[in-house]
Order: sequence, then C-alpha cells, then structure tokens
Amino acid sequence: MKVLNFGSLNIDRVYNVTHHVLPGETITAADLNTYAGGKGLNQSIALGRAGAETVHIGAIGEDGDFLLELLTGAGVDTHLVRRIGGSSGHAIIQVSPDGQNSIVIFGGANRTFTEEYVRECLTQADKGDYVLLQNETNEISAVITEAAKRGAKVVFNPSPITEDILSLPLKNVSLFMVNEIEGAQLAGMSPDDEPRDILDTLSVRYPNADIVLTLGSRGVICKVGGEVFSQPIFRVTPVDTTAAGDTFCGYFLACRCKGMSVPDTLRFASAASAITVSRAGAAPSIPAWYETTAFLSES
Ligand code: RIB
Repeated sequence: MKVLNFGSLNIDRVYNVTHHVLPGETITAADLNTYAGGKGLNQSIALGRAGAETVHIGAIGEDGDFLLELLTGAGVDTHLVRRIGGSSGHAIIQVSPDGQNSIVIFGGANRTFTEEYVRECLTQADKGDYVLLQNETNEISAVITEAAKRGAKVVFNPSPITEDILSLPLKNVSLFMVNEIEGAQLAGMSPDDEPRDILDTLSVRYPNADIVLTLGSRGVICKVGGEVFSQPIFRVTPVDTTAAGDTFCGYFLACRCKGMSVPDTLRFASAASAITVSRAGAAPSIPAWYETTAFLSES
C-alpha cells in the first residue's frame, strides 16, 4: 500500500518578528531564513521519514530543485513531479517569539495542474492505495473524483480552508484531516462549538469517512471505524509551530499504512508534531522515525 500525495511544494521565507504585522504597520524582522515547505511537501517528508512508501505529485519552477532533493533524501519518489518555467510556489511566514506563525502563500507552479496530468498520475494508483491532498493546488475536484473512481482511499486535508470547499465532491473522501476551523466550516458550525459536536456532525454528514480533528494545544479527537479516540499533546517549548499539522497528518497516515492501532497512531503522530514545534522551519523540523521513537521512550 502506498500514498500518492498531490501536494504543494513551496519555498518558505521565514521572518522572525517581535509581533505579527498589523494592518497599516511596518515592522523590521530580526532574522530571515529560507526553508523547504508547502503543506504537500511537508506531509510527504513526514510520510517518508516515518517510513511510508510515498509518491509526490506536484510542480516546481526553475528555482525549486532543492525541494526535490529534500524529498528524495526523505525516501519520497518524485518521478511524477513536473518542472515548469517560472517560479515555484512560495510562502512568506512571520514567526513571533512564542512560536506562532502567520502565512501568506503564492501558488506559482502549484496551480498549474491540469485534468490530463491528474488522470495520467492516477494511473499509478492501485485499489486500496491512499491518495492524499491539501488545498494549496488546483484541480482538487478532479483528484478526488478520479482517485475514488480508481478505488483509492482519498485523504483530504482542506488546508488552507476556502469558501468554495463545500462545492467539492466530498462524499468521495475516506478520511478528513481537519483542525477546528476547517472542521467547523465543513460541519456548518462555529469553531467555538464543542469539538465532540463538530466531530459527530461531520460523521453524520460524511458517514463513509473517518474524521481526525486536531485541536491545537488541546490535542486531537478522532472517529475511526465509528469509534472515538483522543490524545493530548506532548508539551515542549515552542520555537516555530510551522508544519506541526503537516507532520501530524503525514505521521498519522504512515502509521496507519504500517497497520498500527489508532491509539498508537495518535501517540506517534502527536509526538512527531511536538518535535516539529520545538524546532525552526517547516520541512527541516520534521523528525525521522528514530527521533520520534526516542522522544516517546523518554516521555
Ligand atoms: O503548513 C505549513 C506550510 O504552509 C508552510 O510550509 C507554507 O509553505 C504553507 O504552505
């Protein structure tokens, strides 16, 4: 069983700031670093580092070769990634001293998917494979529809959430990976509603799907095979929360591919995510499997 990830590949420019810039304000950053990122790339790196067979599908511009090298180094198959003229996707990220971020993304090459390319890539999906996607590329609807037609299990992380999300063919999704804001929007509720109510509403709305609802500092709650599970976070000193959700998502899927139980999967994914929060940058902060097992045995 493998994972085909239709995902964004970004160059992250990360600015360390005293506070996130306000409308009309100009501030000076103390530091600027450039990292590999993008929700798609981060999730593939997490999958690869956790040992899952992963094929990344996406596009880079002329400036994106280092993104491919990083994926390959994590054991991810990149033969379906296209090189196009122009620039790769990029993100401008502000990180404040408490590790919180705010992000502006520019799609670039990530928005050059065509239906033909989607169909061509999906010929590599076997029945029972996972097809993972986020909301940073175009042709989301085609990926979901075509993947389901081929008997693949569609895993959707609708991040960043957009207004048009409910117009997608979401009945074909087998697993939703959502945070409170995304979950509430899909459920037609408020992020202030009880997480358990959001989870239950989503299960009624999408009865064929498993739902994983991440709750930031309150951990995670999920419904898998009709059963509810939860897991608190592992407390660490936050350095940069960027890619914490992506790490959780990649590790969750990798652990399920390994046939691990849901409680063990949640523990591993939460531990990996905590390590990511304790380090700077997106992709470089995602731990290898051995680091996550060491962290768990020390916790
Ligand atoms: O989830 C974190 C990612 O969001 C960053 O790496 C950035 O590229 C944006 O896509």
